[in-house]
Amino acid sequence: MKTTVAAYNEAFTNYSPEGEKLKIYTYPAPVLKKVAEPVELFDDELKTLCRNMLFTMYQAPGIGLAAPQVGLSKRIFVMDIDYNREQVTRADGTSDTVLKDFNPLIFINPKIKNKVGEILYQEGCLSFPGIFEDVKRAEAITVEFQDWEGNPHTLEASDLLSVCIQHENDHLDGVVFLERLSLLKKNLLMKKFLKKKKKGN
Ligand code: NI
Repeated sequence: MKTTVAAYNEAFTNYSPEGEKLKIYTYPAPVLKKVAEPVELFDDELKTLCRNMLFTMYQAPGIGLAAPQVGLSKRIFVMDIDYNREQVTRADGTSDTVLKDFNPLIFINPKIKNKVGEILYQEGCLSFPGIFEDVKRAEAITVEFQDWEGNPHTLEASDLLSVCIQHENDHLDGVVFLERLSLLKKNLLMKKFLKKKKKGN
């Protein structure tokens, strides 16, 4: 089932990703460890940033991207857990990957309330390319947030949507997913990632 947020429907009718590809910061960039600032100005610049973040997320490709991951310490994240990738083969035999069925979501100044239950889900992060690990989080949450016009919304989320919102919301508090693991696992995976990064792959 698709998640829809009424205020976005109009802005994202027949949406296709457009914008500027932003640089994605990987661990241990200092911006990933900072508590992000609330958004106070809902202007055209904010809309451009949101569109560019979505574009960057789809290009990556990923299902969620928080502003600190593109070097901006702001309480914003974008998400799409519904889009599909299709392999298209041309007449000459070459093939290409085409993205479709977009359902972009934008969360500004989110606050998570009412965490219920427990779920184990394998997570990855665009700031930790190549690292995947099962993380335990709340199965269902309620999230209050603003859209890019500043209008308030409340969304009930479960399963993957809930997991993804909790993962992205952590980025706004300077927390990365590996910090949700046992200290032993966290240290092992951090070491593995930094070693891999040093080698340049
Ligand atoms: Ni992440």
